[in-house]
Amino acid sequence: MKPSILVARAVFPEVLDKLAQHFQVTSNQNDELWMPAQLIEKMQGMQGAFTTGSERISAELLAACPDLKICANMAVGFNNFDLDAMSAAGVLGTNSPDVLTDTTADFGFALLLATARRLSESEHFLRAGHWSRWRYDMFAGAEVHGSTLGILGMGRIGQGIAKRGAHGFGMNVIYHNRSHLDAATEAACRARWVSKSELLASSDHLVLVLPYSAQAHHTIGVAELAQMKCTATLVNIARGGIVDDAALAAALRQGVIAAAGLDVFEGEPAVHPDLLTVSNVVLTPHIASATQSTRRAMAQLAADNLIAYLVHGKALTPLNCKLPATTASIK
Ligand code: GLV
Repeated sequence: MKPSILVARAVFPEVLDKLAQHFQVTSNQNDELWMPAQLIEKMQGMQGAFTTGSERISAELLAACPDLKICANMAVGFNNFDLDAMSAAGVLGTNSPDVLTDTTADFGFALLLATARRLSESEHFLRAGHWSRWRYDMFAGAEVHGSTLGILGMGRIGQGIAKRGAHGFGMNVIYHNRSHLDAATEAACRARWVSKSELLASSDHLVLVLPYSAQAHHTIGVAELAQMKCTATLVNIARGGIVDDAALAAALRQGVIAAAGLDVFEGEPAVHPDLLTVSNVVLTPHIASATQSTRRAMAQLAADNLIAYLVHGKALTPLNCKLPATTASIK
C-alpha cells in the first residue's frame, strides 16, 4: 500500500500528479488556511507532509501525529519547523535550497534599487495625478553604483547579492556573518568581513539575508537603526521578526534612515499599520523567490524529498540528520 501524504497548501498540478504516482495524496488545492488544530486533524494517519513556511510543525502537532515521518518544506527557510522536537520525534525535515538562490538574489537587488531610487513612491505620485512639472529634486534618491553595500548573513543568497553589487554596480561590498567566508569566496564576491557595528555604520545600503532564529529576533531594532547613516536604505528579504517593524516605521518617519524595502514582516501576512502610512518604504508580499520556474523547482524539490525518503529511504536535502538510528532511514 502506498504511504499517505498531505499536501498542506495548493501547488502546481504536475507536482500533485508526480506525488500521486507514489502516494495516497490528500491535497489542499482550495488553499484553505488551516488553524493549528485543523492541521493536526488533516495530518492524522499521514506519513509525509508537503509544507510551506506557513505550516507550523510544533511539538504539539508531532505528539498528535505519531505516523508522521517527514515534513518537506517548499522553502529554503524552515523556522516553521521545531527541528529539535522533530528530531526527538524521529521526524525528518527537509527544505528547498539552491534552486532559489539566484532568483532571490535578483529580487534582493531589485528591492534595493526600488528602495534607493524611490520607485514605489514616485509611481504612486504619478498614478495619483500629482505630476505637473519637472523639478530639480523630484524623487532624488540615493546612488547605488559605487556605493557601499552591506550584507548581513552571507550564505548563498547573500553571496549572490554581493556578486551582483560588486560586479554589476561597482559597489564596495562589506558583510557580517558569524564566520568569515574562505578567501576564494570572498574574492569571488569581492566582499570584506567587518564587525556588525562597522557594517551598520558604513553601509549605504544594508541587505538582511540571515536565517531567522530566536537569537536573530529583532537583530535590527532602535539601537541598530540609530547606528546607520541617515541616508542609508535597509532591505529585508530574510524573515519577519529579524527587524523590529514598529521601530523601523518610527525610524523611517523620523528620518533616522532614508528608506526601507521589505519583503517579509513580523506576523505576516499582517503588516504593521505604521509601515503602511510611511511613504519611504517599498512593501512586497514575500515574493523574493516568486518566478514561475523557481517556484516550480522548489515544489519539485519538496516532492522529490518526500519520494526520496518515503520510497527510497534517503532524503535529498535533510535538515536534521541526527535522527534516532531506527528512524534515520525508513528502509
Ligand atoms: C522563502 O522565504 C523561503 O524560505 O524559501
